[in-house]
Amino acid sequence: MIRALALGASLLAVLTPALAGDEAGPKKAEVCAACHGPAGKKPTTPETPRLAGQEYDYLVHVLIDYHKGTRVSPIMNAMAKPLTDKEIHDLASYYSRQDGLTSKR
Ligand code: HEC
Repeated sequence: MIRALALGASLLAVLTPALAGDEAGPKKAEVCAACHGPAGKKPTTPETPRLAGQEYDYLVHVLIDYHKGTRVSPIMNAMAKPLTDKEIHDLASYYSRQDGLTSKR
């Protein structure tokens, strides 16, 4: 529990600069496009979720979960394992800035 809180605090600390945008995001996302499509907009299989426009916090959490193995997906565990903390935030920032999961008003 305390570790979870510490993690949350450290995530908040990096949230602001990551939202400012980082060019490492799009570059790093090239490999992800093979399955999630360009800018995370056009998944190649029905099992692959769209990433474009997903919430920044959600993407960070889920990538950390895949990285640690607490969310299990053979593909995504392998993809997230080598990612650094900064890369996770850059990718989350990149995908959350794409047009995508918008709700109708
Ligand atoms: C070989 C295909 C493939 C590649 C490459 C791939 N993914 Fe995925 N991704 C998947 C699949 C399949 C799922 C669904 C897994 C599950 O059910 O948990 C997924 C799930 C996700 C999710 C969870 C989305 C949600 O709505 O819960 C995120 C975030 C994600 N991928 C990010 C990435 C990133 C970032 C990269 C590049 C570093 C990447 N993926 C590369 C196939 C891929």
